[in-house]
Amino acid sequence: MKSSVSLLGALASVVVGHGLVTDFWINGQHEQGFLLDYYYAKKNGGSVPDIAAWYAENLDIGFVAPNEYGTAAINCHKNASPGKLTKTAPAGGSMSFYWEAANKQPWPHAQGPILSYLAPCNGDCSKADPTKLAWVKIDAAGIDYATQRWASEDLIANNNTWTSQIPAGIAPGHYVFRHEIIALHAAGSANGAQNYPQCFNVQITGSGTAKPSGTLGTALYKADHPGILFNPYRTITSYAMPGPTLFKG
Ligand SMILES: *[C@@H]1O[C@H](CO)[C@@H](O)[C@H](O)[C@H]1NC(C)=O
Repeated sequence: MKSSVSLLGALASVVVGHGLVTDFWINGQHEQGFLLDYYYAKKNGGSVPDIAAWYAENLDIGFVAPNEYGTAAINCHKNASPGKLTKTAPAGGSMSFYWEAANKQPWPHAQGPILSYLAPCNGDCSKADPTKLAWVKIDAAGIDYATQRWASEDLIANNNTWTSQIPAGIAPGHYVFRHEIIALHAAGSANGAQNYPQCFNVQITGSGTAKPSGTLGTALYKADHPGILFNPYRTITSYAMPGPTLFKG
């Protein structure tokens, strides 16, 4: 056990690069995620293809740190801008996300929760301003106390892929789907948690009526929340999930 922890620690320190969702699926139908190539294309004067995944600069240290929770970056990552397209997703359906880490390594951080949110765009999501989006938490998976297994470990075991359900009762409309890993391997120290948010435009169809109220990105998390400033290197008997109340539609 000790050696696998230190091996993960070593991997984590090598793979400090980016982490992003390069592929996603709506009810099993493949859709293009955001590729680092698009970032370089844009930087070199080229264009980003029309996709439903948001553009973001998941570079340098590749995550949003707690000292950036008060900034726009916490919404959809750094310098994010909406994808030009919107994909249709039925209420009650599933969305799956494939995470790629630097150099196409397996996702390196096995400790931490995985969360998903929806925010209505009140119009075309390709024109959404991330600082105005009000997020409703729809999925939050932490740790299984019996097995001490984090959601992130399940993601790694499932080929770096996570599936969330769109609540069946949510009202139809245009939404930004925000999917996020919070890595806790360094979270025992102040400002050590690592948030990896990724966004996608979806038009939710169906006959749901729920319009739960959401939370602005800058109000989602606090640096000193017990689920953010958190030492994972012990037997965990309780974990306080960060973020607003889960909507169970
Ligand atoms: C994991 O998922 C990726 C993206 O869909 C795919 O390219 C790859 O073949 C998968 N690997 C395995 C072992 O299933």
